[in-house]
Amino acid sequence: MRPTQAPFPAGRLRRTRSSAALRSMVQETTLGVGDLIWPVFVRDGDGVTEDVPSMPGVQRRSVDLTVKAAAEAAELGIPAICLFPYTDPALKTEGCEEAWNPENLSNRAIRAIKREVPEIAVMTDIALDPYNINGHDGIVVDGEIVNDETLEALVKMGLAQAEAGADILGPSDMMDGRIGALRTALEQARHPNVTIMSYAAKYASAFYGPFRDAVGASGALKGDKKTYQMNPANSDEAMRLIERDLSEGADMVMVKPGLAYLDICRRVKETFGAPTFAYQVSGEYAMIEAAAQNGWIDGEKVMLESLMAFKRAGCDGILTYFAPRVARLLKDG
Ligand code: PBG
Repeated sequence: MRPTQAPFPAGRLRRTRSSAALRSMVQETTLGVGDLIWPVFVRDGDGVTEDVPSMPGVQRRSVDLTVKAAAEAAELGIPAICLFPYTDPALKTEGCEEAWNPENLSNRAIRAIKREVPEIAVMTDIALDPYNINGHDGIVVDGEIVNDETLEALVKMGLAQAEAGADILGPSDMMDGRIGALRTALEQARHPNVTIMSYAAKYASAFYGPFRDAVGASGALKGDKKTYQMNPANSDEAMRLIERDLSEGADMVMVKPGLAYLDICRRVKETFGAPTFAYQVSGEYAMIEAAAQNGWIDGEKVMLESLMAFKRAGCDGILTYFAPRVARLLKDG
C-alpha cells in the first residue's frame, strides 16, 4: 500500500536527498559482499592463467590457481564460487561421458578447493555442453535434444559433483524433470544437505556469447538452444518453471540473464518468496567492460549500480564476474 504523498511544498521529496547522511538514512536497499557468487573458469595445467579475450579482466585458471583464487575470495568474504570447466575438445563425445568422470577438471577443482578452502561454498553447473561434441546442454539424437536420456546423464554428473564435495548444484540445462531426478538421487546417495540452485528461468539469450568462448563451446554448438531455453518474450512461463522446480526440490532459484530480466526477478520474488538469484552473464559483463575501456562510462560506478539494481528488484544475491572487484571496493569503503 502506497502512502499518499503530500503536495508541494509539504512534499518536497528533495529534502531526504539533501545530504549524504540523509540519503543513507532513507536508503532502501544495500549491496554487501554476502550477496556475491563468483563464477570462475577452470582449465588444465599447473600454474597457468589465460585471458578470456571477449571478457577483459577474466581468466581461465589451472586448478592450483583456482584454489588460490578461492582462498582470496574467501578472505574477501565472498560466500560462494561457481566453477565452469574449459574442456579439452578431445574429451567431447556424443554421449558426454566426461561429464560424470570423477576425475574430470571440474571434480578435481571441487575436491582441491574443499580441501584447502573449506569455508567457501562451491557451486557447480549441471549441463552437458562442456562435454558435448554438439555443444548442446542435452544429448542429441537425430538432431533432437532428447529430454529423458539427458536426465540420466545429468543425474550421474550431479552425483559425481556431490561426491567430490560440491555444496550447491546448479542445473542450467533446462530439461524437464531434472530437479526431481537429482533430488531423488541425492537422497538415495545420502547427500541430504547438497543444495540445488535451479537455473529455473533461463532464457535463450545472445548475452551468453562470451561465456561460450570462455568454455570453448562456441565452435561446437550446432543450431541454437531454443527448444529448451526460454523465449525472451515470456514471463508467465517463467512463473510456471519456478513453481515446478521449487515443487521438485530446488532450494534456490535463478533468473538468467540478469539486467534485461529484472521484471522476472521482481515477479519471482513477490510470487514465491524463495531465495532468488540473478546471473549477470558474460555479455552483460563484456558490455560494461568494453564501454569502460573506451572511456565511455565509468566502469566502477556502472558495475556497482547494476548490482544494486538486482537487489532493488528483489534478488537475494547475484552471480557476477565482478565479484572480487566489488568485494574489494566494498571492503575499502
Ligand atoms: C551452460 C551455461 C551457460 C551459461 C552458464 N551455464 C551457457 C549457455 O547456456 O549457453 C552462461 C553464463 C554466462 O553467459 O555468463 N549451460
